[in-house]
Amino acid sequence: MKKTLLFVCAFFLILMVHAQTIQVNSPDGKIVLNVQLVQGKPVYTLAYKGKTVIEESTLGFKIKDMPDFGNAFTISNSEKSTVNENWNPAWGEVKTITNNYNQLSLTLTDNATKPHTLRIVFRVFNEGLGFRYEFPEQANLNHIIVEDELTSFNLTADHKIWWIPGDFDTNEYAYYTSKISEVAKMAQKRDGNIFTATPIEGAFVQTPLMIKSADGIYMNIHEAALINYPCMDLKFDETTFNASSTLAPDAIGNKAYLRAPFHTPWRTINVSDDARTILASKMILNLNEPSKIDNTDYIKPMKYVGIWLEMHLGISTWDYSGSQSASDSGGDGKTTKKTKHGATTENTKKYIDFAAANGFGGVLVEGWNTGWEDWFGKWKEDVFDFVTPYPDYDVKGLNQYARSKGVSIITHHETSGSVTNYERYMDTAYRQMNAYGSVALKSGYVGKIIPRGEYHDGQWMVNHYNRAISKAADYHIMVVAHEPVRPTGIHRTYPNFMAAEAARGQEFNFWSEGNPPEHETILPFTRIMGGPMDYTPGIFKIKKSHYIPDAKEQVHTTLCKQLALYVTLYSPVQMVTDLPENYLAKQDAFQFIKDVATDWDDTKILLAEPGDYIATARKAKGTSNWFIGGITDENAREMTIDFSFLEKGKKYEITIYKDAPNASWDGNPEAYVIEKQTVTSKTKLKIKLASGGGFAISAFPKK
Ligand code: NOJ
Ligand code: CA
Repeated sequence: MKKTLLFVCAFFLILMVHAQTIQVNSPDGKIVLNVQLVQGKPVYTLAYKGKTVIEESTLGFKIKDMPDFGNAFTISNSEKSTVNENWNPAWGEVKTITNNYNQLSLTLTDNATKPHTLRIVFRVFNEGLGFRYEFPEQANLNHIIVEDELTSFNLTADHKIWWIPGDFDTNEYAYYTSKISEVAKMAQKRDGNIFTATPIEGAFVQTPLMIKSADGIYMNIHEAALINYPCMDLKFDETTFNASSTLAPDAIGNKAYLRAPFHTPWRTINVSDDARTILASKMILNLNEPSKIDNTDYIKPMKYVGIWLEMHLGISTWDYSGSQSASDSGGDGKTTKKTKHGATTENTKKYIDFAAANGFGGVLVEGWNTGWEDWFGKWKEDVFDFVTPYPDYDVKGLNQYARSKGVSIITHHETSGSVTNYERYMDTAYRQMNAYGSVALKSGYVGKIIPRGEYHDGQWMVNHYNRAISKAADYHIMVVAHEPVRPTGIHRTYPNFMAAEAARGQEFNFWSEGNPPEHETILPFTRIMGGPMDYTPGIFKIKKSHYIPDAKEQVHTTLCKQLALYVTLYSPVQMVTDLPENYLAKQDAFQFIKDVATDWDDTKILLAEPGDYIATARKAKGTSNWFIGGITDENAREMTIDFSFLEKGKKYEITIYKDAPNASWDGNPEAYVIEKQTVTSKTKLKIKLASGGGFAISAFPKK
């Protein structure tokens, strides 16, 4: 990690004039931040290319039992500095990341009888703004309880937004696209299919929030480095379009317990008039601390298969007694049919063999451990011990068998929300994984949280997720978390945190009304801004009626769009989700999944518009091979792919996997055409995408 500090200039000022505005520009000058005190309260505005994009917006805190905190602040110190450095992530979308910003660090002192100090640090990047609060060590403020954070984002008009409703327990809603003024009304019709939801009534939305103004400026509001603090939702004033921060509370209504010195997560605002720049931004990663893991040898991006889809389709069960699948009941974990246990030794061997034969690194096994008879919806503490296998699952032997074939079992730890129980068993469970040689775990937090009264997004749980990641790092274990708080770039600091769900995954297509065709064109602009998602792409059998004749559920894409998702939805771990038999029946299309990489030296966002389409090209790590994916929403469209990203003067053989002329997500979703062609950096290729469709391309240099 090479750090080139271009220059650091600091100057110390005692600013007497309240109305004085301090300005900080982005390195390219296109973004301008202004900060000032108005009647002793800090406020900021943000402009992009000369247009205001955030009007005067509040900053600060309400601290419990400290009513005079923040009374008539004055600026006691102000420092500016610049950073321009490069660093290399352990894995990622690009090999080298540039971290370039101008910083303002503003120290404020209030006029309480015993004065308090608050520092606000602003970093202005070419892609946007990040700012956070710091409570320095001081005489009159030590342990505090945050009653409210007063941050707001005062938008300039009734913009178009892509959003999910505010909720302290789930982020698994389908996206809404609306005007800001329509949020409260639309949120009333929210999806009732999500089991553990704690909706906030009113005009509340979650972050990452995607925004587009009438004059074509894109913005994204989120946070970075969520550590020891609750997650932030936003409350809109539907007449002023001001979004104010709402922190997830704890069981007794407090927001955060802090002790100085302390700093909050960064509040982030991405701004650009090009949607592609929002997707390519590394600002959130840059605002996280460098890796705390020195030896990253055990951290390996991979594709994985698993005993997983069987249960979501209802053709096998998690539990030994054969009653718990997600089949015909809206995902409530129960089925009326008696089926068979999925995680048996015999079945697991089949998946290990399939992974080994096709070059996939992992085999996820769900339902291997005792407890599943009793896991769903009970809000019960003592369900799983995370170490005891069912009698038909040879945990030791299977791990050995997998290792002998160069594959690793991905151990599943579903907590059913009983986090106290998981905390008790974590060390024992991770030690067992080490002993058997399982290098990765998938955790899960389905259900209401224990300790009772805590929410998935509160400070207590944020601390748990982070503790689980850092403890797993102590044991050299990679983590994929389902149902956690939404990611905020912490994988820079803990690169063993590979991916999270934290949004509506593909699973909803198997047991609910599912994900509309536009869903995957929105995810990169929202949830994935904070970090990789374990979406589980790659479904070849699109309609569930293939297995259960009267089933209405289906995946809302074509087969080719499922291929494209390996490129457009970034993650260093990607599930090869469908049943082995479905891949073996379509070997030619399966070839793309075998070929596609999971770690990259370069990424180019070629085309993008939230809710409509995305096309992305990525260069596989350490090779000259490129993979390109394009997806559309419910509208068929034609895309022109400009191959100018290829190395000049080189010829590449490309394989195009595209929707057949008669394909559509609802009509003929599995129809595809495969073509080969030679291209160079001068080629421009027109490709037709079906309704709900997509295409995938592999490009290998010609010898
Ligand atoms: C929900 C997760 O998203 C899914 O992947 C998992 O199979 C079930 N919970 C059971 O843990
Ligand atoms: Ca889930």
